[in-house]
Amino acid sequence: MTTKVPATLERQMDEAISHYPPDQKRSASLPLLHLWQEHFGFISDEGGTWIAAKLGLEPINILELVTFYPMFRQAPAGRKQIRVCRTLSCAMAGAYPLMKNLARLTKIDRGEGGGGMHSPVAVSPDGEFSIEFVECLASCGTAPVCMLDDELHENVTPESAPDFLTRSQKNLSSRVGEARRGTSQVTRDVHLVGTPGVAGEVPLRPAADRDDSVIDGLASFQQLPESIRSLPPHPLEHRMIFKNIGREGYTTDIDCYLQNGGYEQLRAAVRMTRTEIVNEVKTSGLRGRGGAGFPCGVKWSFIRPDETKPVYLICNADESEPGTFKDRYIIHQDPHQLLEGMLISCFALNVHTAYIYIRGEFPEGAKILGHAIEEARAKNFLGRNILGTGFDVEFYIHRGAGAYICGEETGLIESLEGKRAYPRIKPPYFPAVLGLYMCPTIVNNVETLCHVKHIIAMGGADYARIGRPNNTGTRIVCVSGDVVRPGYFEIEVGAVTMGQVLHELAGGAKPGRKIKAVIPGGSSAKVLRAGDTFKLKDREISFDDIPMDFDSLAAVGSMAGSGGVIVMDDSRDMVWTLNNINEFYAHESCGQCTPCREGSLWMKKITDRMLSGGGVTQDPATLKNVADNIAGRTICAFGEACAWPTQSFLEKFPDEFAGRAQKPVPPPRPPEYTSEELITEPEIPTAPLANDAGWEKAGAPGTV
Ligand SMILES: Cc1cc2nc3c(=O)[nH]c(=O)nc-3n(C[C@H](O)[C@H](O)[C@H](O)COP(=O)(O)O)c2cc1C
Ligand code: SF4
Ligand code: FES
Repeated sequence: MTTKVPATLERQMDEAISHYPPDQKRSASLPLLHLWQEHFGFISDEGGTWIAAKLGLEPINILELVTFYPMFRQAPAGRKQIRVCRTLSCAMAGAYPLMKNLARLTKIDRGEGGGGMHSPVAVSPDGEFSIEFVECLASCGTAPVCMLDDELHENVTPESAPDFLTRSQKNLSSRVGEARRGTSQVTRDVHLVGTPGVAGEVPLRPAADRDDSVIDGLASFQQLPESIRSLPPHPLEHRMIFKNIGREGYTTDIDCYLQNGGYEQLRAAVRMTRTEIVNEVKTSGLRGRGGAGFPCGVKWSFIRPDETKPVYLICNADESEPGTFKDRYIIHQDPHQLLEGMLISCFALNVHTAYIYIRGEFPEGAKILGHAIEEARAKNFLGRNILGTGFDVEFYIHRGAGAYICGEETGLIESLEGKRAYPRIKPPYFPAVLGLYMCPTIVNNVETLCHVKHIIAMGGADYARIGRPNNTGTRIVCVSGDVVRPGYFEIEVGAVTMGQVLHELAGGAKPGRKIKAVIPGGSSAKVLRAGDTFKLKDREISFDDIPMDFDSLAAVGSMAGSGGVIVMDDSRDMVWTLNNINEFYAHESCGQCTPCREGSLWMKKITDRMLSGGGVTQDPATLKNVADNIAGRTICAFGEACAWPTQSFLEKFPDEFAGRAQKPVPPPRPPEYTSEELITEPEIPTAPLANDAGWEKAGAPGTV
């Protein structure tokens, strides 16, 4: 081996390995890969072999991770790495022209059609920069966003690209978050869209001259929203989990947390019996905030009090559902609230080891949590014999590496075990029964775990009085897209309507525009059409009157999901919108199930074709057919997540899809062409058969 592994690096690796049971060293694969890449810049074959040997694995066990997780590279990147979010809210706000400008300014050739997502990452000729598209960075309310190395930059508009690069070279980033809170590395670019004389050494063409051909359907760039942090809570809000988020003078310090009543509920909980705590959570009616809305207390009660195997708690901090940006704020601004919720949960469930699975794109969040864990340990809230109770508990942070499917709880567990994040079949692999290392495991979302602290504070019965029956408590709705004031709002579940969220909290549509459609629970939720009426129990309600709760949103044909509300106004092309969503799912399918792996790609290719002017009359029906054959036929709920957008967009906006599907269906293809080529090639000679409808036109230039 020619590469020398420094002793300090190896010590860091040994420390990472110690976070997992001695017979589960494989779990340290991702941490070791991160450490290697941070030190050497990429994962060489030699690096993979070295890590495999260190963990007692075969090199293929490491290679399969490097090729699965988008954040790992097999070749060096630039000295500064820029990752631009291309997912829906950012794309609506100009992420594609931003990427074009960044590529032009850094002299990076991203290839025909803008290049793919990551592999291989594109590097500038001087080696200074590399840029790549990534999926939703959980900051959709301040779109467009990008990461410069480990820093998140908000509101980086296409026009502020030169300034962004100049400041990145001079390390002049204005650390707004840091100034406010002492920790978070979030920076805001401050140029209004279209502002003349944008600072920077490289001139940009004026906005009117901009080539937007890559983003067909993008009618207007978003105006920069008011800083979502500067807004005081709206009277319609009920701040509980987000009470301290964005609060002037509030820091992530444990002393600040303690001055605000922190860890009092942990002190109270350790004086209760385990069953009492579980019963309070059951009585509260708390439903999971990660997406499925499963009752938390019911999940917890699957853990047998006399369980002999170790029980694990995993905090799901993967927050990668497009449109969702709440967990990151909790982690960055109030990490001890999460730790206290987790500590109470561990005590209630007799958990001695808990993991926080945090997505790889939150490096700063991982550091903040690591620091908070050390602070909590120093005060004896965590570690051995906490608060003199004789109860031991340890928390470890485990970083993902850029794959959305790690948010799915069984995929997450596989990933934590050091494998590809291939979801497991349920049954039998319900985590509470057969979870991490085949032991009972509770997986809960960040926001869900924070609620536990408040349930202990007020008692389950009082908590259940907030919100509506079966839809109790508060939840964070994250509004992004075409509204005046995108941002996060904490509401009593069901006590606030869709109309109130859109018009009163988020400020309504932009001047001169009307809201056309809303995806209410992250991009996997079915789209709703503004102006529709719905049957709710025995009454008819308007779109604006839909209560924002689990049951009502399900009754109107969508879901509350992760709370990510994405708004589209009447300037949006729905084929373009669905195409953006389809690209996300095609990229993120883990590939285990044929309907999902193939279907997600076909749907993307068909909407690609429709957008590029080649849509054939059969396309909407084919799209529906493909989607119908994914949902319900896969290992995990990603199948539904990728089928529902296509099914609902087609159902709600049939004319727009028909309008993009005008060409005659070609006769059967000659056998030498694959179905892939049929979709991607602009012109394929056909072998017309007289009994095929439209055969006489098929094969003419521009038909397929
Ligand atoms: C494709 C897919 C992605 C998911 N992504 C997340 C995620 O990023 N964060 C999350 O908390 N839950 C996510 N979930 C839901 C988890 O599987 C799981 O239900 C949740 O973490 C349980 O926590 P809760 O009961 O507190 O909501 C996802 C589910 C699916 C099917
Ligand atoms: S449904 Fe998709 S993401 Fe889920 S296991 Fe199957 S292929 Fe993987
Ligand atoms: S941060 Fe870009 S879409 Fe969410």
